[in-house]
Amino acid sequence: MVSCGLQHNLGITNNSINRDRKRSWAKASLAISQGRSAPNDDSDSRLGRIVRLLMENATVVVSGTKLAAEISSNRSEVWRLIQQLRGLGMDVTGHPATGYQLRSMPDLLLPEVLKPLLRGTIFAEHIRHFYKIGSTNAEAMQAAAEGAPEGSVFLAEEQTAGRGRGANAWHSQRSTGIYCSVVLRPRLPPSEILVLALAAGLAVHAAILEIDSRLSSSLDLKWPNDVLIGGKKVCGILTEMNAEPTRVRYIVVGIGINVNQSTFPAELEPLATSLRLASGSEWSRVELTAALLKSLHREYEQLIVQPGTRDSILLRFAKYSSWVQGKEVRIEDNGAPLEGITAGLDERGFLRLRTTSGMQTVLSGTVRERKVSS
Ligand code: BTN
Repeated sequence: MVSCGLQHNLGITNNSINRDRKRSWAKASLAISQGRSAPNDDSDSRLGRIVRLLMENATVVVSGTKLAAEISSNRSEVWRLIQQLRGLGMDVTGHPATGYQLRSMPDLLLPEVLKPLLRGTIFAEHIRHFYKIGSTNAEAMQAAAEGAPEGSVFLAEEQTAGRGRGANAWHSQRSTGIYCSVVLRPRLPPSEILVLALAAGLAVHAAILEIDSRLSSSLDLKWPNDVLIGGKKVCGILTEMNAEPTRVRYIVVGIGINVNQSTFPAELEPLATSLRLASGSEWSRVELTAALLKSLHREYEQLIVQPGTRDSILLRFAKYSSWVQGKEVRIEDNGAPLEGITAGLDERGFLRLRTTSGMQTVLSGTVRERKVSS
């Protein structure tokens, strides 16, 4: 019982493999910053450039030739990519002979759109966007091992193997949720990382309320870092780390937010909700992603720079959570389940539980409310 959803990866790495991996990340970053496509990322970056050009010329028709020049290809390739964008829900009129026009702004989490909104944060410079990926956390962990800098952001429209805490999967339907992973390289011992994970939950909480403060009475945090609305999960956070016993090499904070889903698979229906279902209207994923990353930047900066922030994180988490104090719960982990009444957080962020055999500290597991029969 050590992990608290923090998947420790104390793996011994082979330095020569690491060197090669570092070089390949450097090459990919260079290609992106020069507007070229990165290895294995070809289609994504060309789609992004077409969208950017259409957005910059939103009121006019852009010729197929101009778009083809932008991606150093031909008009039939542009047509193929436009069809792909339409398949992703983008409203583009026209065809190869007439040129193309964007009819409405797409709510896609493109680096070109997010970068200006994130100026001044650590997340503005290395944003990678995928239309479809296995898991942004897996991609970010791999990139971090290859030397991806602090603040690298990985966003996907759809995940085919979204990872949740424990052995759970994360339902990642296309372009309805936010699937976001960030690489951080905090100078903290591994024991401090739980506080950072709690801070990520606070960042999500703040971002949601920044956009719709009406949700404040129904928004809740469940230890260690689920965000709930009306008792149902609207956001899950998976923090994975690579560390030595006394030093964190890097961590990846993966955040999944249910934004515009109007239904869920039957098995999730009783457990999950979305911001759209809770608020009654559609949300801009771009606006929420920007608010989230700005708020995560603030929490992270404070934690790293200002001593004493840790206490404020624990206090704020307890303030916004109905779970950390006085709740009858059952904790399920690999071993025997633990039952009791929650009794606050200890100074490292672990959950304290009053049980029939005394006070216990919960290091990990899934917390569920225990219905006590009267
Ligand atoms: C949980 O089980 O509550 C955590 C879910 C975390 C899901 C997010 S979606 C973005 C990132 N990529 C993943 O594969 N998982 C995390």
